Amino acid sequence: MDNIILEMRGITKTFPGVKALDNVSFKVREGEIHALVGENGAGKSTLMKVLSGVYPAGTYEGEIHYDGEVRRFSTISNSEDIGIIIIHQELALVPLLSIAENIFLGNEIAKNGVIDWPATFARTQGLLEKVGLRDSPATRITDIGVGKQQLVEIAKALSKKVRLLILDEPTASLNETDSDALLTLLMEFRKQGMTSIIISHKLNEIRKVADQITILRDGGTVETLDCHGGDISEDRIIKGMVGRDMEDRYPPRDPKIGEVLLEVKNWNVFHQNHRDRQFLHDININVRAGEVVGIAGLMGAGRTETAMSVFGRSWGHKITGDVLMRGAAVDVSTIPKAIDAGLAYVTEDRKHLGLVLNSNILQNTTLANLAAVSSNGILDDHKEAEVASGYRTKLRIRSHSIYQEAVNLSGGNQQKVVLSKWLFTNPEVLILDEPTRGIDVGAKFEIYTIINQLASEGKGILMISSEMPELLGTCDRIYVMNEGRIVAELSREEASQESIMRAIMRSGEKH
Ligand SMILES: Nc1ncnc2c1ncn2[C@@H]1O[C@H](COP(=O)(O)OP(=O)(O)OP(=O)(O)O)[C@@H](O)[C@H]1O
Ligand SMILES: [Mg+2]
Repeated sequence: MDNIILEMRGITKTFPGVKALDNVSFKVREGEIHALVGENGAGKSTLMKVLSGVYPAGTYEGEIHYDGEVRRFSTISNSEDIGIIIIHQELALVPLLSIAENIFLGNEIAKNGVIDWPATFARTQGLLEKVGLRDSPATRITDIGVGKQQLVEIAKALSKKVRLLILDEPTASLNETDSDALLTLLMEFRKQGMTSIIISHKLNEIRKVADQITILRDGGTVETLDCHGGDISEDRIIKGMVGRDMEDRYPPRDPKIGEVLLEVKNWNVFHQNHRDRQFLHDININVRAGEVVGIAGLMGAGRTETAMSVFGRSWGHKITGDVLMRGAAVDVSTIPKAIDAGLAYVTEDRKHLGLVLNSNILQNTTLANLAAVSSNGILDDHKEAEVASGYRTKLRIRSHSIYQEAVNLSGGNQQKVVLSKWLFTNPEVLILDEPTRGIDVGAKFEIYTIINQLASEGKGILMISSEMPELLGTCDRIYVMNEGRIVAELSREEASQESIMRAIMRSGEKH
């Protein structure tokens, strides 16, 4: 297994004002799963875009050796032609098209100039079987979850005769079951001789599948660890990523809990699209001053829908129930009213709801609270810049300046901008939906520290997370949701992975 399929030598890639990659070298053995890790903005996605021809030869320095030859790709299809296929960090499927149409988009199977549907469907069926999907090729992308969408992306890669598969954070938005399925599939491909490169911030997954791990830091290669020479601990990987030991993953918490701030009472919500179906049933939750409250649950349990329906009715229909702040009923029927009532919601879906991609960091940061950076109704550039710079430093947003467009930020840094924006609305209760998705370990610690600090200032935090260790490490109290209902409420002492799972299982049996 020592045949080197890929060697990238001395890769340097510069964007205006940033050196994203600085003399990076990277070697991959044929048939292995090679993990690429590093903090947000370390240059992982950029390196893979160089490799796949997204950034063509001539726009970077250095050499790509693949299969014994120097390669200079001018387009993505050049790299695809020799079997290098990349699945990007942000999925690129067309929601309203079917699985089959998506797989063969731009690569249609045609007979006499017309698309041969029977052949397209038959081939799609075969590809779906390979990735373990049983949905019909005619199913539209919007009708399947993110986990399945990732598998469709892989099926699409397989339709192109892949030899080297690159996956950029494929499991970032997947739950544990879907992640496991995807990793098992990768291991299956390895048995068949396929090579893959996987980028991930989930170090437990990396340890499970990787043969080698390459660590990037600040645009440079730090080291490559061989997993067959002995077990490599998460702490060891983290040390390489952040350049020092990290003693704890969670900052210490010393909660001082006060009066009830937010109360959601008898909250019933019908499904946004299937209008006769009740989705949320009689939700009752509260958050007190100084308290960090979690909502645990499996994908589809209704956690995001709860948050969104409360925050300006941005999801759902036929909503009934009450929202109280400090014991008084408040009107949260639109987003501006919800903000006025003292709520803020940091969405899990940063691309669609959280960020204006073609605006810069400064504009995104102040967007939800322009009044605070205006004097007499006129925007004060100086104030705006001061605020944005403050958050950029506090959250360690890696960018050349606050004037960098959001679209050019690395995935994790985009998430930090979304967080800045809502922090700046200075809410009484901050609802965080998967706040650390795609965020590196060092920055996660920063975010938990900020959460603690907000709580110590007397704010209430409601946090939705699919990562149980994160909930257990940060929350004072945890609600468990399943199938649109609150099925348990656990104190910090009662909460554990087991007690949460038990609550979910038990409620599943009842319905
Ligand atoms: N098109 C671009 N224009 C300007 N700067 C860019 C562009 N793309 C990336 N960068 C910058 O290059 C650096 C590396 O970004 P990259 O996306 O490769 O990071 P990453 O390691 O994938 O991080 P993450 O874990 O957050 O996804 C960052 O500082 C980023 O802001
Ligand atoms: Mg990236």
